[in-house]
Amino acid sequence: MARPEVDSAARTPDGRPESQQPRWRRDFPIDLPQDEYVARRDFTKFMVLTSLAFAVGQVWIGVENWRRRRRGEPAIVEIARVADVPVGAVITFGYPGPHDSCLLARTGERTWLAYGQECTHLACAVVPELSESRLRCPCHHGYFDLTTGRPTAGPPRRPLPRILLDVRNGSVYATGVEVRTT
Ligand code: FES
Repeated sequence: MARPEVDSAARTPDGRPESQQPRWRRDFPIDLPQDEYVARRDFTKFMVLTSLAFAVGQVWIGVENWRRRRRGEPAIVEIARVADVPVGAVITFGYPGPHDSCLLARTGERTWLAYGQECTHLACAVVPELSESRLRCPCHHGYFDLTTGRPTAGPPRRPLPRILLDVRNGSVYATGVEVRTT
């Protein structure tokens, strides 16, 4: 990007000489072409750094998944873009396999929770009730705490499997499954 010429950079916005400019403009002299040049330069720098961070992130995920495949562990999978899930929303996704149904809930600006959707009683699909901060199983009226995934009422005795999450570069990733017995 070419830097503006000194002459054009020093030009006042209304074309009048410096001595006829209002007091505030003389106290805070900002050359508009120069200002735009700096803004464009900073924006370009920001875009390059953002793209670089994204590329490094993708390489890291590729290497990590290669290592996980060799060890027989679940892969790292992008579930959603942060911008696509407003606070208070719940989406479904498949993890670790595409047919293993899970729920992702965004309960705050930076708060995400995810669980396997299969009830630990007899495997019905639980449904979210965010206003009650719980997950409900419609088959036998089982309830789970939304924050912990632990059973709070009804027949279920074991917590829901927790999906481990990582939020980076504007995306939410599933990174593993924590199966709990108590
Ligand atoms: S299957 Fe969920 S409570 Fe029975």
